[in-house]
Amino acid sequence: MAPAKKGQAKPEVPSTGHEWDGIREYDNPLPRWWLWTFYACIVWGIGYSIAYPAWPLISGATAGVLGFSTRGEVAADIARVAAQNEGIETRLASVDLDRIAADPELQGYAQNAGASVFRNNCAQCHGSGAAGAKGYPNLLDNDWLWGGSLEDIHSTVTHGIRNTTDADARYSQMPAFGRDGLLEKPQIAAVVQHVRAISGQEHDAALAEEGAAVFAENCASCHAEDGTGDRAQGAPNLTDAIWLYGGDVATLTETVTNARFGVMPNWNARLTEAQIRAVASYVHGLGGGE
Ligand code: HEC
Ligand code: HEC
Repeated sequence: MAPAKKGQAKPEVPSTGHEWDGIREYDNPLPRWWLWTFYACIVWGIGYSIAYPAWPLISGATAGVLGFSTRGEVAADIARVAAQNEGIETRLASVDLDRIAADPELQGYAQNAGASVFRNNCAQCHGSGAAGAKGYPNLLDNDWLWGGSLEDIHSTVTHGIRNTTDADARYSQMPAFGRDGLLEKPQIAAVVQHVRAISGQEHDAALAEEGAAVFAENCASCHAEDGTGDRAQGAPNLTDAIWLYGGDVATLTETVTNARFGVMPNWNARLTEAQIRAVASYVHGLGGGE
């Protein structure tokens, strides 16, 4: 039908019969282009819901004949990357520990992979920058409880510390001198002053003198005569200004009275050998590695 021109009478279009306030509703057919687009959408919609996950079910949705899912796509991506890294991971897991640093490719891979293992598994306790917190050692400095060689760190991470899940975990236990009645309160006050003295802090000289004898008798077997600690027992150096729990009088008194028992999980159950080596190498490279 040719479009109506100005001035020409409108061709007669059937009316729907509806009329409001003198306005009549024509019964025009839908435009062709609109109708075909509409049909195309329906066909596309049916095709889509057959091919892809579409109809919601009580849990999940219809799977679609193509078997596509965003979850599956991520899994495929992960599998592809894992396959790419398989060679280097096998090599990392099997070379001698002291050879890693000598191989730039291995070292680079270990540092990158280690940083991501650290972010995912270690940062919640040791801090995202590895600077630690009260009870959680700073891994950036060269003050080590259990040792700072790559081998030591690897062993600490593999087996953990004072956990009950790995028989090879590093283990030691400082006695609770106050709680278990091994020392009287005045003796504890004195030994605390001695610790203040050897760590170069303000102290009561007379009490510290008294405390030196208490220390020699009760503490030196773990923390050494001069208080510099013993890595074989994870007994901290008490002469530096680096504290795991704190060097103020109240915290020292609490430590000597009730002892401390820092626990770290063993990672051999949760990480692969390559991941453990990567994160050990990363921690070793943070600045305090020996
Ligand atoms: C649940 C908390 C927790 C998590 C998670 C954790 N650690 Fe620890 N980590 C500790 C505690 C607590 C200690 C100190 C134990 C002690 O007092 O001897 C420690 C000690 C260490 C030490 C020994 C430091 C030294 O001075 O000898 C290393 C190395 C270490 N962690 C590395 C890691 C790495 C690497 C990860 C991640 C794979 C990790 N930690 C995850 C709690 C944790
Ligand atoms: C059997 C070994 C052992 C004996 C004996 C011992 N300690 Fe300890 N001490 C440790 C260990 C192990 C730790 C670390 C605990 C932890 O990491 O959770 C520790 C931690 C400490 C700390 C915390 C240091 C910090 O950085 O916050 C202080 C202080 C301390 N000991 C003082 C003493 C004093 C004082 C005595 C003697 C009255 C003593 N210890 C006897 C093993 C011992």
